Amino acid sequence: MKGTPLNDQLFEYIVHNFAENERTLLEHMAARAQAAGMPMIMISEEQARFVGVFLRAIKARRVLDVGTLFGYSAAIMARSIGAEGDVISLEFSEKHALVARENLADLGIPNVTVRTGPALDAMQKMADNSFDFILIDADKPNYSNYLKESLRLIKNGGVIAGDNALAWGKIASTLTNDDSDYASVTAIQQFNQAFAHEGALFGVICAIGDGMAIGVVSK
Ligand SMILES: C[S@@+](CC[C@H](N)C(=O)[O-])C[C@H]1O[C@@H](n2cnc3c(N)ncnc32)[C@H](O)[C@@H]1O
Repeated sequence: MKGTPLNDQLFEYIVHNFAENERTLLEHMAARAQAAGMPMIMISEEQARFVGVFLRAIKARRVLDVGTLFGYSAAIMARSIGAEGDVISLEFSEKHALVARENLADLGIPNVTVRTGPALDAMQKMADNSFDFILIDADKPNYSNYLKESLRLIKNGGVIAGDNALAWGKIASTLTNDDSDYASVTAIQQFNQAFAHEGALFGVICAIGDGMAIGVVSK
């Protein structure tokens, strides 16, 4: 049976009761990003809270953040795992990485390392079984490649998540290639199929934000 569609009032109810800290952090970090002309394409406040719940549940220590932007998901995850843990955050854009590093320094969050360059190259150089949690949220055409590497990089019992699993509401549509989102939506459809049918992953798409695919890995 279908659940309750989330309207603005219900979204505000959830954030007001559960994610005010995540909202305050987002407002603080987004101010510097907006001043730098960056896009507001980060995870939403209740998604941030959801990720925080998972990180605490699995007692994650090593986290990989694929797609830094201005550092919001990295900051959320760094705070969730505590000072003994560390987050590696991968970002293609030098400008985005600079703003993220400024935000993280300003907040006094020491346990995030932002690395610049193509995320896939960086992931391919990392050792097997290195991370407890991986959040995939960078360029959509590489999502299936990120999933393949994530399955190698995640530890047994670790969790892999991917944002935009509902592809801006277009995931179940058949698009023609004159739609500006065609390449991204098609790539996310392939990612979701791989996520659903990968034997090592027990997952689901959770309808929060633009949809978050999330699954636990058994190796
Ligand atoms: C949706 S944003 C990430 C948002 C971030 N996870 C958050 O919620 O705060 C995607 C980021 O991925 C970066 N990106 C795009 N292609 C990339 C690539 N090939 N390698 C690494 N980063 C990439 C973009 O520059 C952008 O900053």
